[in-house]
Amino acid sequence: MCPPEHFTVEYAINPWMDTTVAVDSGLALKQWEQLRTTLVNLGHVVHVLDPEPGLPDMVYSANGAFSVDGTVYGARFKYPQRSAEALAHQAFYLAAESWRFVAPEQVNEGEGDFAYLPGAYGGIVLAGYGFRTDPAAHAEAQEALGRPVVSLRLVDPAFYHLDTALAALDDRHVTYYPGAFSPASQRVLAQLFPDAVLADREDAEAFGLNLVSDGRHVILNTEAVAMGHKVRDAGYLPVHVDLSELKRGGGSVKCAVAELRP
Ligand code: ARG
Repeated sequence: MCPPEHFTVEYAINPWMDTTVAVDSGLALKQWEQLRTTLVNLGHVVHVLDPEPGLPDMVYSANGAFSVDGTVYGARFKYPQRSAEALAHQAFYLAAESWRFVAPEQVNEGEGDFAYLPGAYGGIVLAGYGFRTDPAAHAEAQEALGRPVVSLRLVDPAFYHLDTALAALDDRHVTYYPGAFSPASQRVLAQLFPDAVLADREDAEAFGLNLVSDGRHVILNTEAVAMGHKVRDAGYLPVHVDLSELKRGGGSVKCAVAELRP
């Protein structure tokens, strides 16, 4: 995670970002700290990246890389405003030494567009494209990680990253909003995950799919009340955290957490 110390909305690269409305940076920091504490209290180890001035989106740390079983596929951001963030993430993994770091050639925004399901089909990667990540990065990720990568086309600009439209609930189960995907990709998801928890547009707009799950607890935005009920009905424990300020940049819980798979 990376604290939103320099968080602002000074450019607009997704439909949620409105540069005319000021961000409450004190509140953003408080809400972020609440998310960090929630994860720690649930027993998770949280590493914190140093925030850098001039990188207002650095709080969305999920976009900086994608790791699977000790291999890290680095990010390469689509927009120049964010490109320097990739170096901070790369430095984190290289400093730990235990990771195998693969530098990308293709544009991809890390866990923003990649999800890993270790218990599905022997371990598969779901990958989004259409707005940020180049489909060529899906093949590059498959070569880097040695796992099958299933390409899914995102079609709604409001859900520009895979992690705004789909989430892993545990090692083999997913939840997603079908309308964010092309009809063909919806078919692919229905075939692979017939037992998925289906979300609707309202859930997705509340950033209810931008969740982090440890397989038991599902941490999600406070506003996503109906989504909380859906995950409870599916047997998980919803834990709500208010991230109203981070939503102004077009992200929520998942965007703020890069998961490490050593
Ligand atoms: N403002 C950021 C961007 O548009 C938000 C990134 C949200 N992160 C995510 N994992 N979806 O790039």
